[in-house]
Amino acid sequence: MCGIVGIIGTAPAASRLIEGLRRLEYRGYDSAGLATLDGGAIQRRRAKGKIAVLDDLLRTDPIGGTTGVGHTRWATHGMPNEANAHPHANGRVAVVHNGIIENFQTLRDELVAKGHAFTSDTDTEVVVHLISQGIAEGTEPIEATRRALGRLEGAFALGILLKDRPDVLIAARQGSPLALGRGEGEMFLGSDALALAPMTQRITYLEDGDWAVLTTEGATIRDLDGQEVARPEQLSSLSGAMIGKGGHRHFMAKEIFEQPQVIGDTLNAMFNPTRRSITLPDLPFDLAAVPRITMIACGTASLAGLVGKYWLERFAGVAVDWDLASEFRYRAPVMAEGGLAIFISQSGETADTLAALRYCKQHGQHCLGIVNAPESTIAREADAVLPTLAGPEIGVASTKAFTTQLVVLACLTIALARARGVMDRETEARLSGAMTEVPSRAAEVLNHDGRIRAIAEDAFVPARDVLYLGRGTSYPLALEGALKLKEISYIHAEGYAAGEMKHGPIALIDEHVPVVVIAPSDPLFEKTASNVQEVVARGGKAVVFSDAEGVKRLRDLALDAVALPAVDPFVAPILYALPVQLLAYHTAVAKGTDVDQPRNLAKAVTVE
Ligand code: F6R
Repeated sequence: MCGIVGIIGTAPAASRLIEGLRRLEYRGYDSAGLATLDGGAIQRRRAKGKIAVLDDLLRTDPIGGTTGVGHTRWATHGMPNEANAHPHANGRVAVVHNGIIENFQTLRDELVAKGHAFTSDTDTEVVVHLISQGIAEGTEPIEATRRALGRLEGAFALGILLKDRPDVLIAARQGSPLALGRGEGEMFLGSDALALAPMTQRITYLEDGDWAVLTTEGATIRDLDGQEVARPEQLSSLSGAMIGKGGHRHFMAKEIFEQPQVIGDTLNAMFNPTRRSITLPDLPFDLAAVPRITMIACGTASLAGLVGKYWLERFAGVAVDWDLASEFRYRAPVMAEGGLAIFISQSGETADTLAALRYCKQHGQHCLGIVNAPESTIAREADAVLPTLAGPEIGVASTKAFTTQLVVLACLTIALARARGVMDRETEARLSGAMTEVPSRAAEVLNHDGRIRAIAEDAFVPARDVLYLGRGTSYPLALEGALKLKEISYIHAEGYAAGEMKHGPIALIDEHVPVVVIAPSDPLFEKTASNVQEVVARGGKAVVFSDAEGVKRLRDLALDAVALPAVDPFVAPILYALPVQLLAYHTAVAKGTDVDQPRNLAKAVTVE
């Protein structure tokens, strides 16, 4: 959350900082700002709202300078307003920050007692005053910065400008991601390589505890102990071209419609068409020997993991614990040595998931990442990575990342079942054959777009509450459908295991509550069909997603029923993700919400 970018160079910085911020806007978008060193003074512009508002401000009130820092904010401490927008600055120091400084109150009290006047409610502002205090006491500015960094607790990525040292830009990382970029006679810092892609592809990732002094010629990086360290420079594969919407109105729509392609790409990396079998990349541990699996993630990624649990237990016969990273990391989980812990993350930067990974490493687990951002922290810290080849996902609501995570988990299930000797060749060929059909079946599902839009406009836009029901692997899909609807349309929605409805949620059902039923033809179909009867008997309006056979059974009961292609139940969760995404998307569009950047959310949750 929050994006930071910085430049120390020879060309005007402001417009390039804005370009970097636009590429980071997915991380937070409630306010933005930048500061430069111009004519020996710190200049600053800040604005509530999106980068476009800041850009407008800079057109009417420009700032010069070739060295500067920029920030797009997702509020943690303090309302999203101009006073709390970054950079925080006084005449001497300007700071941009991503993360949370946990001991800010103690530091703030100490600094206020020394006469410092604070102008914001943020935790970040203490960094400005802490450094300034050191400089005021006569400490050289870079040394004052080093000492201030040593007093900060919590998670941070910082970019720091010092008026008295216009020849440097300082970067520091503790728990929040930060990359350095090398140009010709200029250096950059950014929350990720995407931000820096227009300027350079030569990227160095800082490690936790690192802080760096950047000049136009390079960077000196020191670790926690003050030792100079060398961090490898990598060539980022990310392109400098701004990622476009490909003719769609929103990134989310583009990303939904890319799914047949990216599902195919992800599958092709693991599928051997001649043998009709799955081959995983070489892993640094024996997959067949893992006694137990722990599946850990947040949000939508966790729901992919929940589908994975159903698959792995049924087909590979291995015990799977499923956990939300935010709960797992503070629960003191007991883990047997040699287990496999799987971390699923689109961004690869989610703070809770990363903390869970570190816990698992300390507790003797083999750590496998299923990650979309190959250069992310989780990808780098995991023992091995199975990549999702979804490409950059810009819409805040996860769509193609989710379905490609499912593809990887399905392949892992088949590979593990084979490795454990519990799946015969015939079943492997059947399941992997079903997988190969998914891209074309997904394209067929997307043909229902118009129909689903009509359902969204008629039945969902007026709704205040919506229920989603499913059984087996459709249960996580019900949770995902509800999550998608609430995050982008702001309609309250709940997902339930269909069999759980009688234990409470049935009390909510009346003619005003649409009930989405995810019911592919599988061994649990009849049970779900009974639940539809119960909904309808109470005046509920069921919207059914099934295949032709299921729709035939339920059409007369339901308000609406959409027939998706008939597929092997194994791959149904991948396909049934699409209509629930479309339903949420069209409801949000019809309601006029900000689909790609819904309120209060951010794409990469780098604070816990
Ligand atoms: C919902 C959504 C979030 C993310 C969650 C984890 O549409 O996108 O729930 O799934 O924040 O993010 P990653 O996958 O980046 O770890």
